[in-house]
Parts: sequence; C-alpha cells; structure tokens
Amino acid sequence: MKYNFDQLIDRNGTGAGKWDFYRGGSHAGPINPIDAQLQNDGAVPLWVADMDFASPQPVIDALAARVQHGVFGYTLATDGYYDSVTGWFQKRFGWDVANDWITTTPGVVPALHFAVKTWCQPGDKVLVQQPVYYPFFRAITNGGCEILSSSLLENAGVYRMDFDDLEKKASDPKVKISLLCSPHNPVGRVWTAEELRRYGDICQRHGVIVIADEIHGDLIMPGNTFQPYAQLGEQFANHSIVCTAPSKTFNLAGMHLSNLVIANGDLKNAFDTYLFETGIAGGLNPLALVATETAYREGEDWLAQLLDYIHGNYRAVETFFADNLPQLRLTDLQGTYLAWIDFRALGLDQPSLEKMTQLDAKVLFDEGHIFGPEGFGFERINLACPRPLLDLALHRLKAQIDAL
Ligand SMILES: Cc1ncc(COP(=O)(O)O)c(C=O)c1O
Repeated sequence: MKYNFDQLIDRNGTGAGKWDFYRGGSHAGPINPIDAQLQNDGAVPLWVADMDFASPQPVIDALAARVQHGVFGYTLATDGYYDSVTGWFQKRFGWDVANDWITTTPGVVPALHFAVKTWCQPGDKVLVQQPVYYPFFRAITNGGCEILSSSLLENAGVYRMDFDDLEKKASDPKVKISLLCSPHNPVGRVWTAEELRRYGDICQRHGVIVIADEIHGDLIMPGNTFQPYAQLGEQFANHSIVCTAPSKTFNLAGMHLSNLVIANGDLKNAFDTYLFETGIAGGLNPLALVATETAYREGEDWLAQLLDYIHGNYRAVETFFADNLPQLRLTDLQGTYLAWIDFRALGLDQPSLEKMTQLDAKVLFDEGHIFGPEGFGFERINLACPRPLLDLALHRLKAQIDAL
C-alpha cells in the first residue's frame, strides 16, 4: 500500500503533547486541516519527538479488531509477541536475541530511571556524552547521582566521541553506568561498529555497565548502517542493557511499551527484581501489545516509505538553507528524524535566538541548550511532519532572519 505522508492529520484536541501543549489544548478542530493549518497564526510545532503521521495501516486495523473484542482485562505478552520483537531484530540487523533476554518497560525513559536505581547508589556518577537527549539528566539526578559528561567533539558540524576523555572519566570508580545514545539524539550520528567497540572496550575495562538507548535504531538514513551495541560480541552483550521500542519507529509513543535486551542473566535478574519490587512488573496494556506485535510483523513496508519521506524532508531543508539561509549549518543526518542546526553564525544570544524562532517566526523547535551547554546556539528540528508544514516553518524562519 502507498502511504500519503503529505497529509496533515489534525491532532488538535487529541491531547497531543506536541500540538496541544503550547496552544492551550484548543478543542476547535478545523474542517480542512491543511488549509486551516497553513493559514494558522499559531506556532508550527517541530519539537517533541513524535511524528504527525498515522501508524501503519495493519497496526490501525489490528487495534480496531482488538477493540472490537471488547475485553481488556489483565494481559501478558505471549510467545508470539516476543517472537515478533526478536524476529524484527533478526530481520533488520541479523541480530540474534533470545526471547528470554527481553524485559518490557512502560517506556525507555522509565527504563533509564530504573537502571540508575538498580545499579547506582546515591553519590555515584553516570557517564553521558553531551549534547544528549535531556531526560537522561533527570534519570541520573533522580537516583541521587551525578551527571558526568564526556562531551562530543564537534568540528565543522561533524561529531565524534572523545575517547581519551572517555577513558579518563570511565576510570573514576564512582562511575557505575554509562548512557549511550545510539543513534545519537540530537546530533544525528549513527555510531560505527568501530566507534562502538572502542567505547565498549573502555567501559568494560573500567567495569562500567552500558545502557544503550537504541530507540532511534530503526530510523537510519540512506548510506548509513545501524550497529546494535550488543551484537558487537558476547562481552558487549554481557555488560549492557539495550533499550529498544516501536515508539519512534512506528509512532506508537503513546502506547508506552519498550523492549529491553539484557543478555546477562545476573543483570537481568537485578533489573527484573527492581521492577517486581516496585510494582512495575506485571500485566501489560493489551492495545500496546497488539500494536507492537503487528508493527514488527507487518510494518516494514510503511517504514521503508517513511524513511524515504523523512530523507526527502531533510533534503528539502538542506536545499532551502543553501538557497535562502546559507548562514545556518545543517548537521549531517545519519539517523533519527531530528535535524540539528547550527544558528551560531547569526550571532544571537540565547534569549534573542529563542525570541526570533518562537515569538517572531512562530516555529517551535527544541532549544539546543536543553541538551547540555554544548548545544547553545543550536536548534533541533523534528522532520517527521508533512512537507507543507515544514515548508511553512522554513519560510517563516527565513522572513525573520532576513529581517534581523
Ligand atoms: C534517545 C531517546 N530515548 C528515549 C526517548 C523516549 O522514550 P520513551 O517515550 O519510550 O520513554 C526519546 C524520545 O524522544 C529519545 O529520543
């Protein structure tokens, strides 16, 4: 089936965080969403990482059928569910994962909090690589731990890991875990096998557990190859917790179901015990299970078309900037649907940049500095939206920058 990602689906009044949050939750849904939106005075929301697209049709159909069943009692993941998850890893990456390595959690962010609580004591340190997905910070501080950043090195828009610094920081005995963002939100890097191996070798040398957040692992742009961390070899699998989910891939974030891969039995026992003792383990949402299983079994065709569309959006931004806003630098997007843009050449301080984008241009990005001070002067733009909406945002931005 051919999907139409140009279609603007009106999300107003659905409680959509991305749309309703800053607009006061308007319930007045426009009749012709695309026209109404294009005439709208309100800000164009290109911030929080969900997509303005409907999920794959087989998922919608399976959910409708499950709803018709009508009974929504306590539900557990079936063998078929686990087969669909591990089958996806095998089909997409050739990665062999046993069904009993999987632990479900109600999201990847909760899993990060649980991991800190499981393996760290208050006063310990957790290694991150800023700029990075900012909820990492709360997961660390909520556990009474200290954020230790081995910040990424940036040179002319290219980001890489600082291995010397990582080695130094990982050797601190207070560092118990390291949060890896792979692919890396917000800078869009897809780490190579070699980079991951070097990173993993450092962590193993110092007894640091790797929590690999691979939630964007299916969102890979042409020319790049995603390397699941635990697939690097047994010793990598043995000291890691890999966080995966269908939520970014198939736009199912509201379902709150993630699958963690924990190959090491001791680590899995410790984590599962934490879930059990805190009342988190147990039944799952039946709709989330159906959506996830169906997406992994039948969503591949939709995903191929989606990736094509997102790459087209990225190219559209690239062309627009080259033709109209050459002062802005677009970081090479290897993975994720989040473009990382360097506004520093405009010479604006942070409040002026924020005012220009949000209040004047009326486009809502994620401000770069929320990912760590390394992000000052940058903005993160969510490309997972219909192109007319993206065009509208770009034209608004240009008008304001021209007027500076
Ligand atoms: C790197 C990363 N991890 C986790 C999440 C959110 O995970 P969840 O919604 O499963 O808690 C996001 C969402 O943007 C993300 O970018």
